Amino acid sequence: MSAISIQSLVKTFPPRGNAPAVHALDHVSFDIGHGEFFGLLGPNGAGKTTLISILAGLARASSGSIKVHGFDVRTDYVQARRHLGIVPQELVFDPFFTVREALRFQSGYFGLNRNDDWIDELLAGLGLSDKANANMRQLSGGMKRRVLVAQALVHRPPVIVLDEPTAGVDVELRQTLWHFVADLNRKGHTVLLTTHYLEEAEALCHRIAMLKKGRVIALEKTSTLLANATANVLHFKTDATLPPALAQLARITGRMVELPAHDPQEIEQHLAALRQAGVPVEELEIRKADLEDVFITLMNAPSCPTGVDAKGVQA
Ligand SMILES: Nc1ncnc2c1ncn2[C@@H]1O[C@H](COP(=O)(O)OP(=O)(O)OP(=O)(O)O)[C@@H](O)[C@H]1O
Ligand SMILES: [Mg+2]
Repeated sequence: MSAISIQSLVKTFPPRGNAPAVHALDHVSFDIGHGEFFGLLGPNGAGKTTLISILAGLARASSGSIKVHGFDVRTDYVQARRHLGIVPQELVFDPFFTVREALRFQSGYFGLNRNDDWIDELLAGLGLSDKANANMRQLSGGMKRRVLVAQALVHRPPVIVLDEPTAGVDVELRQTLWHFVADLNRKGHTVLLTTHYLEEAEALCHRIAMLKKGRVIALEKTSTLLANATANVLHFKTDATLPPALAQLARITGRMVELPAHDPQEIEQHLAALRQAGVPVEELEIRKADLEDVFITLMNAPSCPTGVDAKGVQA
């Protein structure tokens, strides 16, 4: 039995006014094994939050199913929800509670009345001890996000789902959060993470699913994704315009250009093409491809490179 099992999940938002129907999830299937640290990646609007909302029981699938530890999120909602701790993308909180009250309230929701030892541990682990009696509305955005994480964990759920937990948070909180979540994962908790910070996903996730327009376009171990990718990236700065053939391949940010290259010959070809076109280059570097390069290559590919209905549990 998997920690999370997603079977041919479809979510279609019906047309509204002039807006056409949105196929937010289009037959998504994959399994997440117990104890896995799993990354769900995709551009804005790919369907990540929709999937998490269905998992959380906040939205209903048009068809297909999700099970958590074998419990269907629809027909066995209470059991499924008990196994899940969800940190939502949007900051939602009751402004009249203090931090400790909010956590006690959430504990009560799960029928836990004497939970203060664990609440204290959560507060300490997330650097919130000195804010325990502060009112929620007095907290900064990053502090509120920490409380959301604590709230998701009050009932010690075996499966933790984080929807962009590090969006707009500072470096220190990011490190505190990753230290905390990685530690829970080491203790056996399953983690499902969505993030736009691909270096975080690369560092943390054992396996990754990439969503594009509601479809799974890649489902691999992180190491396999990196190994199969464009091997190298030619990185330089220039003020000149690239010849069209190169511009098509390149990722250009202001003066900075990144050109993928599969092998040494391709690096030579790129350099020759630049020389021929009279493009002066500065600060030339060759680096190994990272997850961001893989992501961009896959997202820009015209069709799905790997099985759409791929299914897999951690090997
Ligand atoms: N309640 C809704 N009604 C209509 N369309 C919706 C609704 N919620 C989401 N959508 C659409 O479904 C698609 C998927 O949205 P979703 O929020 O799941 O994306 P996401 O991958 O989480 O993106 P982001 O990275 O921006 O958070 C988008 O096209 C979005 O506009
Ligand atoms: Mg989202």
